[in-house]
Amino acid sequence: MKDADTKSFKRRKNMIRIDMEKCIGCMKCVSVCPFTVLGEKDGRPQLREGKACLKCMHCGAACPQNAVSFDEEDSVLPQPLPVLSEEFPQQLEQHILMRRSYRHFKPEPPERETIRHALELASWAPSAKNQHPAKWIVIDSKEVIEKMMQYILKYVRESGTSPEIATEYEEGNNVVMGTAPMLILCYARNNAINSPADTAIAMTTAELILQARGIGTCWSGYLTRLCNSIPQIRELLPQLPDNNSFYGAFMVGYPQNEEYLHIPQRLKREDIQWV
Ligand SMILES: Cc1cc2nc3c(=O)[nH]c(=O)nc-3n(C[C@H](O)[C@H](O)[C@H](O)COP(=O)(O)O)c2cc1C
Repeated sequence: MKDADTKSFKRRKNMIRIDMEKCIGCMKCVSVCPFTVLGEKDGRPQLREGKACLKCMHCGAACPQNAVSFDEEDSVLPQPLPVLSEEFPQQLEQHILMRRSYRHFKPEPPERETIRHALELASWAPSAKNQHPAKWIVIDSKEVIEKMMQYILKYVRESGTSPEIATEYEEGNNVVMGTAPMLILCYARNNAINSPADTAIAMTTAELILQARGIGTCWSGYLTRLCNSIPQIRELLPQLPDNNSFYGAFMVGYPQNEEYLHIPQRLKREDIQWV
């Protein structure tokens, strides 16, 4: 196939391309493009100049001919679309009701491959303009976790910040990291369109996947803030690029001595105004 003859889009870095030998002119790619980067000309999809592509690959995902590539690579995964069982909606609801924040864990950290897989799946979460700014640091070194906690205790005692962290710790309750053998930190660049939302959605996605695999998690707002505030913790960890911050953190591990027999009542339910 020759580009010029087949009217394929010119090869440029960072762009989609439609194989006009495969294209049947159904325009499905045009109709799903979120920013009208693809338009129709003479019954064929055409890349419109001056439009910014989100690289969401919706064009490829909607194409019945598999005619869309991105920088010479496939724009879609090779596997067929999953078929969900009829029970799936109910099971998803049940999973959401059964998700809990776990703070008591077995000493052995979960396998890295299980964690890597969950964090990779979180890349399919939505993000503002498809930027996906969330990045991860996973800590499963007992020594590093213990050092982090020592720095945290020193910091809160000296600065008077969140004094309950130290008083609870003295009573044997670690409100920052529970008894977690693993911590997952989520960081992002501060100048992404919506780093707080994007990281929270990626983390929520990862949490649901991890808990579906029997791995307990608990968000740690304390740990997030303290990782940003305590320079010695930053020095223990891989250096974040300039203008990046921690946006979220999880305690992670297989739950121990923590089993829930009921779904907790929510005192605050949905607050919806229908117009
Ligand atoms: C953003 C965020 C920060 C949180 N920070 C902490 C924390 O620092 N320590 C902690 O023990 N739990 C923390 N939690 C867990 C909440 O306390 C927990 O979600 C809530 O009590 C409801 O329990 P459930 O998740 O089991 O339904 C946090 C949750 C969120 C969403």
